[in-house]
Amino acid sequence: MEVIVCENAEKASALSARLVKNKIKKQPDLVLGLATGSTPLQLYKQLVDLIDSENLSVKEITTFNLDEYVGVAATHPGSYQTYMKKNLFEALNLREDQWHIPNGECQDVSQECQHYENLIDAKGPIQLQILGIGRDGHIGFNEPGSSFGSRTRLKTLTEETRQDNALLFSSTEEIPRHVITMGIQTIMDSEEIVLLAFGAQKADAVAAFIEGPVSASVPASILQFHPRVKVFLDPQAAAKLSHLDYYQEVFAQKPSWQMLEFES
Ligand code: PGA
Repeated sequence: MEVIVCENAEKASALSARLVKNKIKKQPDLVLGLATGSTPLQLYKQLVDLIDSENLSVKEITTFNLDEYVGVAATHPGSYQTYMKKNLFEALNLREDQWHIPNGECQDVSQECQHYENLIDAKGPIQLQILGIGRDGHIGFNEPGSSFGSRTRLKTLTEETRQDNALLFSSTEEIPRHVITMGIQTIMDSEEIVLLAFGAQKADAVAAFIEGPVSASVPASILQFHPRVKVFLDPQAAAKLSHLDYYQEVFAQKPSWQMLEFES
């Protein structure tokens, strides 16, 4: 795992946006896995600016989102479809056939989950997956205790996660309890992973998944087994890491050819 600690969240977002932009430039038909939440907002904004300024074509990319709320209309302000349209898809002019988000309004959840896995199988593999992390160490909405072998399925949110996601819902009752999320194995099947975490509220989860034991109680810790993971942090999220000096040294001493993927 490569741990990259930046001066602040904005710089971490800019660096990760350059990495995604360079991947698209190199591979115009990139299959990109996307996350929602507050963490990747700056990354998406910077990515849109970079794509615009370099006049890159995104007509051939395909995207797969990690998750969606069950029982929330796609047009609801709190749905992840609304989030993605507002923060990325409309700005990039993606066609409807280019992006994929689980259908939280489906009649049959198991069928929808299988359909989503089939789509990833048919159009994938996901070549670069963007992730955030929950305070409880979840990735996607794979809450603690999720099987490392899991695939896209229905999950019940913890009360902590519900409260963290309260902002766009008008009452506590309205905050969804259920989601469709890619499973941990689905995420692990991606060829490369970029995880972002910002703020002191993520410091415990970050230290636990990078340096703690691999455990289903900290779902992100499975990433220790993935051969290509980059973690972008701000100093607050990195504050509880024991080997912080080493990670910083590794990045500072990176050979120039390895820095090409961050080129502006
Ligand atoms: P956040 O959520 O970006 O809103 O902190 C991250 C997550 O739950 O994965």
